[in-house]
Amino acid sequence: MTPATEIINPHLHAYLTAHSTPPDGLLEDLASETARLYPDSTGLQISPEQGTLMTLLAQLSSARDAVEIGTFTGYSSVCIARGLLPGGTLLTCDVSEEWVSVAQRYWERAGLSDTVTPRLGPALDTLAELPEEPRFDLAFVDADKERYVDYWEALLPRLRPGGALLVDNALAVSQGSVTDDPLPTPALRYIRDFNDHAAADGRVDVVVVPIGDGLTLARKRP
Ligand SMILES: C[S@@+](CC[C@H](N)C(=O)[O-])C[C@H]1O[C@@H](n2cnc3c(N)ncnc32)[C@H](O)[C@@H]1O
Repeated sequence: MTPATEIINPHLHAYLTAHSTPPDGLLEDLASETARLYPDSTGLQISPEQGTLMTLLAQLSSARDAVEIGTFTGYSSVCIARGLLPGGTLLTCDVSEEWVSVAQRYWERAGLSDTVTPRLGPALDTLAELPEEPRFDLAFVDADKERYVDYWEALLPRLRPGGALLVDNALAVSQGSVTDDPLPTPALRYIRDFNDHAAADGRVDVVVVPIGDGLTLARKRP
């Protein structure tokens, strides 16, 4: 799990989670199994409170059709899919058949197999195959950081006016901090460039939310 305590001090973080809807048994099982199978990769998963936020955002925006870049073992996809309107769809993209096969079991258990469609392959290729017209109400980006600006540019034309674009790791505390100088890892340069790009984009209103590893929340202007 992303160390949310890096942004919010441990006492406030414990208080925050104690006053937020917790993950249910299915999400807890998914997180435990991921930790057991891939102990070195658990930091890839979004934090439980971010999952709750994403379900609420999908519900509050009455999202029907969503797209996700970066499935991993499925935690965020379950959170998004559960918030969609009845009959909603989630297209989720990843390059790892093994990780997506874990996610698939949890979609089945959650009754979301008809809602979630996985696509294996580089996500930019998957997006390029979709007509460049508004079709999604919500998009979530959580994959290779060097392509964040490309994902943003590929997703915005495919997002309906008023739609939400969420991008993970905006503050990158899991890797140091986006404000460190010099930057501790090259990946932070991509995050910093992406944040500058999003903040300067007149097509959206945008805010960086200090949850998890930092979450960019943008709304496409009508
Ligand atoms: C941070 S993890 C996603 C975590 C997930 N959102 C969750 O909450 O469990 C990033 C994922 O992006 C995938 N990925 C990396 N490069 C990719 C690419 N070019 N296209 C699609 N997926 C990619 C990785 O295989 C990995 O599963």
